[in-house]
Amino acid sequence: MTPLTSGTSGKLSGRIRVPGDKSISHRALMLGALAVGESRISGLLEGDDVLRTAAAMRALGAELRREAAPDGTAIWHVAGVGVGGLAEPQDILDLGNAGTGARLLMGLIAGHPITAFLTGDASLRRRPIARAAEPLRRMGARIIAREGCRLPLAIIGAAEPLPIAYRLPVPSAQVKSAVLLAGLNAPGATTVIEALATRDHSERMLRHFGATVDVEATPEGGRIITLTGQPELRAADLVVPGDPSSAAFPAVAALLLPGSQIVIEGVGINALRPGLFVTLVEMGAALDFQNSRAEGGEEVADLDVRASRLSGVEVPAARAPSMIDEYPILAVAAAFAKGRTVMRGLGELRVKESDRLAAIARGLAACGVAATIEGDDLVVEGQDGPPPGGATVETQLDHRPAMAFLVFGMAARKPVAIDDGATIATSFPDFTALMNGLGATIAPAVRS
Ligand code: S3P
Repeated sequence: MTPLTSGTSGKLSGRIRVPGDKSISHRALMLGALAVGESRISGLLEGDDVLRTAAAMRALGAELRREAAPDGTAIWHVAGVGVGGLAEPQDILDLGNAGTGARLLMGLIAGHPITAFLTGDASLRRRPIARAAEPLRRMGARIIAREGCRLPLAIIGAAEPLPIAYRLPVPSAQVKSAVLLAGLNAPGATTVIEALATRDHSERMLRHFGATVDVEATPEGGRIITLTGQPELRAADLVVPGDPSSAAFPAVAALLLPGSQIVIEGVGINALRPGLFVTLVEMGAALDFQNSRAEGGEEVADLDVRASRLSGVEVPAARAPSMIDEYPILAVAAAFAKGRTVMRGLGELRVKESDRLAAIARGLAACGVAATIEGDDLVVEGQDGPPPGGATVETQLDHRPAMAFLVFGMAARKPVAIDDGATIATSFPDFTALMNGLGATIAPAVRS
């Protein structure tokens, strides 16, 4: 355990870059490993989740090499094996904390005639995998998992995977991606139908590597995605944009600390992930996306943030897929806002790295903020200024509540501690240094 404490900070200022997008980083390594030739990836998130995927792709036969650039960044070289060419791993694949890594890998393995064993940390071993296992079984994979379809599991991929048409029962980009990845080695068209559009990084990157992916929007806001199977994926170079889900933490900190002004450079502005920023603007946030440009198949921009007085709003359930990882930090912003914020339709938060719905409500209550869960909705009573703070929040192997409550402590009346900051390295290894560089005071806490 690495306890951390976050004390009241003055105003924040500076220009920063946040680490590469976690979703895109996993996919870049996986598709690079399936392509013919050598792909070069810059801006890859070198957090624990993604490094686990890198190790898994090596175990499946791809060659990965990290080249350090003089400026401290890295270029990852991935020599792929071609669709259908993955080798059977000789040992258990341990995905650590990474639900994305686990579910997407299941898709890859399901479409290859190999047997693999997957496990993860205590958090990942608690999470439901049935949502990915179910369509993959329909495609011909055999999956034997623990009670409740949890890791560890064994997966025996199909020698001749079947293309399917699959309607997602929950809005999940991970399940969509698992089906598409398994469909790569199936003949004909694999189709995924989603009632609400979820992040489309897989579709974009599959195209970037040469696959044919057709996307049709439905009038209800959903999508029908069709992949043509057995493409020859060709190596491609990629630039991974800054992760908007990581940018969320310094952005909200700057909104809450009077007099702050920061710029976060090169943040991904994928059109299916704007929910937090849309909501913050509705709450009165001064956010400005400048200098937008295309980089490696995705749009990026520089995000200018100025401290703002926020007001409570109602966040509709239909917005949830576009900000599913941002509710912990939105709830922190809501605690400082004037009036009540109601966030609707958050059932999916119960199956993240922890039960985030409960974690947010518990953490806010400990910090002196009234927060209630009503069905799948979260209601936060804003304090129109700094709430008390002064608590230690349990992080339960979940990086996002950990960072969210450190941001809370930066602007609250009394410092806030978290019991374990080690989990932050899954998605944002330099979080503490980067925040302190802007003016935060996050430091190791003395254990009581
Ligand atoms: C992700 C999809 C989301 C998100 C996760 C990353 C992805 O999960 O919470 O952090 O990369 O596809 P779900 O598919 O479970 O909604």
